[in-house]
Amino acid sequence: MRRARMGYCHWGAAEFRAVLSGWTGRAADAPERLTQRLAALGYGDVRLVNRGKTGLVLAFQVMKAAAPERRKVLVPAYCCPAVPHAVREAGLDPVSVPVGDDLNLDLAALPGWLARDVLAVVAVHMYGARLDVDAVAGLARPHGIRVVDDAAHVLGDSMGTRGDFGLLSFDQSKTLTGGMPNGGGALLVNAPEFRPAVTSAWEALPDAPLRRRHHAWFAYGFVLDPLPRFLPNYGARFVRPVARWCEARNNKRSHIPDTAAAALLAQLERLGDIRAARTRICGWYADALPNGARMPQYAPGAYRTRMIVTWDGGATTKDVQERLIGAGISVRAPYRAWSDDAAAMLGSQLDRMIELPGNIRLREADVRRIAAELARAIA
Ligand SMILES: Cc1ncc(COP(=O)(O)O)c(C=O)c1O
Repeated sequence: MRRARMGYCHWGAAEFRAVLSGWTGRAADAPERLTQRLAALGYGDVRLVNRGKTGLVLAFQVMKAAAPERRKVLVPAYCCPAVPHAVREAGLDPVSVPVGDDLNLDLAALPGWLARDVLAVVAVHMYGARLDVDAVAGLARPHGIRVVDDAAHVLGDSMGTRGDFGLLSFDQSKTLTGGMPNGGGALLVNAPEFRPAVTSAWEALPDAPLRRRHHAWFAYGFVLDPLPRFLPNYGARFVRPVARWCEARNNKRSHIPDTAAAALLAQLERLGDIRAARTRICGWYADALPNGARMPQYAPGAYRTRMIVTWDGGATTKDVQERLIGAGISVRAPYRAWSDDAAAMLGSQLDRMIELPGNIRLREADVRRIAAELARAIA
C-alpha cells in the first residue's frame, strides 16, 4: 500500500446506495428500522438523534430538571470537546477529572471529585477501551450522582448499557459511521424513571433536513480520505467554505437523518467484520511497534476503534505527525485538552502520542511498514 489512509469510516457501495435511497425519499422508515435493530442488539430504550452530542444535551437537560441544585458534570480530562460543549449547552459546568494511562477515568482519583453539587459523571470508554462503569456507579450513586455510560466510540461489548443513560455516536471515526456531521447518535435511556421526560424532549426535536452538501463534504474528507501527503490534518483538508457552511449547521439538534440511518443499517451487516479487522490490526501494531513505543490501550484480542501509540524520547507528536504524513501515512494528533484544568491534569501525557491508521483494508505488511516509519520518526 503506497499510502496508508486513516480509516475514518468503512463506506462502500452499500452505504452510497443507502444515501441515494434517502435522497429519493425511499429511506423514510430507516430510523424506525435502525431503532429496532439496535434494540435487538441489546441496547434497550434507543432514541436516535442527529449526533451523539444531541443525545448528551437531552440527557443533561432531563437530569438537571430532576436535580436543579446540582450544577456540575464530571468529564474526563482527556475527552472529545463535544462532551464539555454538551454540558455547557445544557446550562451546566463541566469539571475535568483525571485519567489514567489508558486515557479512561482514573477510578482511584474519582472519589475526590464526588460532591453535593455534582449532577453526573460522564464515563467514557475512550476509543473502545472498557471503563468499569459499574465501579463508577458504585462510587457515584451514594452521593446521588448520575452516570452516563458514554460508548460514543464503540458499538458492541454491551458498552453504553450501564449507568442512567448510555450514548452511541455514528459520526466519522466511530465503530460505525452514518456520515459527518450529523451521522447519527443514540441516547440510551437505561434508567426507567427518565423515560417520560426523555420521550417528550426527544419528540420535540425537529426532523433532520436533507443535506446534500454534508454528504459531498463527508465523501471527500472521510471516505476518499485523499492526499495525506499534501493536506496534513483533516481540519485543513476541507474546502473551507463548505466546511464553514456545514459547521454552522452542525449544532442544530434534530432526529437522525434518514440517510444516516439507512447507511448505518447497511453497515450493521458488517459490524462483526469491522470489529474483527480492527482487533487484528491492533494486534499487528502491538507486535510490530519499535522499542520505546507502546499502545497504552492495548489488550490482547480486544477491539479498539483507534490505534493510539505513545513513545519515549525526544520526538514530539508534531515531529512524528510531519514525518509520517511525509511518508504517505495519514495520522491524527490526539484531542487537545478541553480546559486549562484538563491541560494541567494531563501534563505531558499528550506530547508523545499519535493515532495511526486503523483502516480495515490494511494488511499485516502495511502495518509493519507504518511501524518501521514510526521507528525512524521517534529515533
Ligand atoms: C466520548 C464522546 N462522547 C460524545 C461524543 C459526541 O458525539 P458526536 O460527534 O456524534 O456528537 C464524542 C464525539 O466524538 C465522543 O468522543
